Amino acid sequence: MKILIVGNGGREHALGWALQRDARVRELFFAPGNAGTDSLGCNLPIQATDLPGLLDWAGENRPDLVVVGPEAPLCQGLVDRLEAMNIPAFGPGESGARLEASKTFTKGLLLKAGIPTARSAEFQDASEARVWCRKQTFPLVIKADGLAAGKGVIIAQNEAEADQALGEIMERKVFGASGNCVLIEEFLEGQEASIHAVTDGKDYVLLPSSQDHKRIFDQDQGPNTGGMGAYAPAPIVTEALLQEVEEKVIRPIIHILREEGIPYRGVLYAGLMLTAQGPKVLEFNCRFGDPETEVLLPLLETPLLDLIQATLAGKLGSLELKLREASALTVVLAAPGYPEARGPGEFFSLAGSRGRRV
Ligand code: AMP
Ligand code: GLY
Repeated sequence: MKILIVGNGGREHALGWALQRDARVRELFFAPGNAGTDSLGCNLPIQATDLPGLLDWAGENRPDLVVVGPEAPLCQGLVDRLEAMNIPAFGPGESGARLEASKTFTKGLLLKAGIPTARSAEFQDASEARVWCRKQTFPLVIKADGLAAGKGVIIAQNEAEADQALGEIMERKVFGASGNCVLIEEFLEGQEASIHAVTDGKDYVLLPSSQDHKRIFDQDQGPNTGGMGAYAPAPIVTEALLQEVEEKVIRPIIHILREEGIPYRGVLYAGLMLTAQGPKVLEFNCRFGDPETEVLLPLLETPLLDLIQATLAGKLGSLELKLREASALTVVLAAPGYPEARGPGEFFSLAGSRGRRV
């Protein structure tokens, strides 16, 4: 098989690592890949968000499968466009990817499905949001509605910080149109955990639980990042808790997506806060987490290709997912200045030989 992996992170290196071990995989391409993927296959000079470039390459080279790593091309509708060309692609189409592209859309679905989540209000107008904030108890969590490269969530400790966050997001538009609307949530306390499910829109399988370490620097001294490391499974997610998440979060979200007529095939990644009242959804991502993928894939006994093919064929119901009785851990090395400065540095995820360059 000829496979194209879209993205340039440690995640895409891990996906490549898992697929390259499969005797059915003959050729691996990465767009654009990184220093690590260079040793697994061929890095193409096409960025993950360059849809015309990706579609041109796919049209000429007819890969047997495209695996899309990051959210941006999924939200741009890359999978819909590939499917229209009869090229199988793993990941949701644009309508399903809204689960990550719009926090207000997702909050609406969560409420409709009765899935536990933080209480919230949404605003299109900064002054109205400011007036509302004055009547609330702090801290409050202010979220730009759209994609913001993981930076669109601000925890405001007081009114002045809320004012500033609303000004940045809604008036100065530091995240562009993603800040046309904000979601303001109550602050939830607890530990965070991630549950990755893979679904064909009807059935699903659960991957091991994981936790990523958000703050940079020792002793949690630095700002939040996309994750400075991760481990799986997460000991805090007991078998009973996992069952609760399955019942209260995973099954209802797949059910409501179906009811709403939103096709969804790919990874459903639930970011959860484990509160004293039980697990509550902080967000959904429409893709594998990074660095979580680096610790999840080594725990799969079932070949990743089988999981992907069963998803695309709508046959996850008959796949028996086998997991290894093991734990995995990864540490991210980041260039100076991360997460603020995203210069031409190198990031390495130290699990085996995986690495990522941004
Ligand atoms: P999100 O992109 O919505 O997952 O938010 C990014 C990060 O902000 C999460 O991983 C949490 O650390 C934090 N966060 C988001 N929402 C809340 C909330 N309601 N209460 C406390 N922390 C939150
Ligand atoms: N590690 C967090 C994410 O992939 O969104």
